[in-house]
Amino acid sequence: MHADLSQQIRQQAAACRAIILAHNYQPDEIQALADFTGDSLELSRKAAQVDAEIIVFCGVYFMAETAALLNPTRTILLPDIAAGCPMANMLDAEQLRQLKGLHPGAQVVCYVNSTAEVKAESDICCTSANAVPVVQSLDPQRPVIFVPDQHLGHFVQERTGRPLIIWPGYCPTHVRIQAREVAAARAAHPGALVLAHPECSQPVRHAADQVLSTGQMCRYAAGASTSEFIIATEVGLLYRLRKENPGKRFYPATSRALCPNMKKITLEKVLLALQRRAPVVAILDAGIQARARQALERMLTISA
Ligand code: 13P
Ligand code: SF4
Repeated sequence: MHADLSQQIRQQAAACRAIILAHNYQPDEIQALADFTGDSLELSRKAAQVDAEIIVFCGVYFMAETAALLNPTRTILLPDIAAGCPMANMLDAEQLRQLKGLHPGAQVVCYVNSTAEVKAESDICCTSANAVPVVQSLDPQRPVIFVPDQHLGHFVQERTGRPLIIWPGYCPTHVRIQAREVAAARAAHPGALVLAHPECSQPVRHAADQVLSTGQMCRYAAGASTSEFIIATEVGLLYRLRKENPGKRFYPATSRALCPNMKKITLEKVLLALQRRAPVVAILDAGIQARARQALERMLTISA
C-alpha cells in the first residue's frame, strides 16, 4: 500500500520536476519517500537553493512559508494547508509591535516558528540550531526581544548570559515531556545519554546531557561512542535516528510527545497535492515578503 503510493508519488514528482522536502518529525513513510529530510535550519538552507520548479513541503505551515520567502520563484505545495504550528499562532504582528513599543531600541529575534508578519517585524530569525550564535551576533548595548518560544528563549538566556525580553509562547508537544519521565527512562536505561530539544521545559533541559536541534541530535548520535540514547523531542525523530544508526538504541522520553500537525501529512495528500498543484503557500503582501525575507537571510549569514 505505502510502496504503491510512494512509487506513484515518485513518478508524479519526476514528471513535474518537483522535489520533496520533509521535516524530521514527519510520519515514517513520508521521511522514507522524501528527497531530503532535516531540521528547520537545514530545510531553510535547502529550500533557498532548490532549482526544481515545485517544492512539496512535508512539514507545517511556517516551514512551507519560509521556503516560499527564501525561494519566491518556486511553487511551494503544503499537502495539508491546515497543518499549522500552534506556537507560531501564539503571537501576532500587532502584539509584537506593542511589545516593541514598550522597549524602544530593542532588537527583535524571532524563532522561525512564527508567521511571515511576525518575521517582518523582526530584525533577525533563528532556529533551534542557531539561536545562541544569532543572539551573540547582536549589539550588546541594546536590549533583545525574543519571540515566540519562552523555553528556547530561556535556554538562549542561560547559554549566552544575556537578559532577554521573552514572549510566553510554547510548544504544546514539547511541554508535555516531564522531567520525571526523563528520570524514569534514565533508571530503565542507565547507560543512555539524554538528548533534549530546547523547546522542552527547563527541568527537562536541565535533566538532559545535551540540548540540541533535531538535526544536531542526528549528528550527535551518529558521532558519539555511546550506543543508547533517550530522546526528549517529538517521536517522529526516532525513525531517522534508528535508520541511520542500526547498531544503536533510541528510547523516547515519552511516547506522548507527538505533534498532531506534523502527522497531518499523508502519502495520499502528497500525491493529490502533486496532481492538483495545490495547496500553494505564497506570501501576497510584497512589503511583508521583503521584510520577512530580510530577517531570514540575516539568519542564514550566521553559521551554526
Ligand atoms: P528543529 O528545527 O530542531 O527540527 O525543530 C523544529 C520544531 O518545530 C520543533 O518543534
Ligand atoms: Fe510547532 Fe511544536 Fe509541532 Fe514543532 S512540535 S511544529 S513547535 S507544535
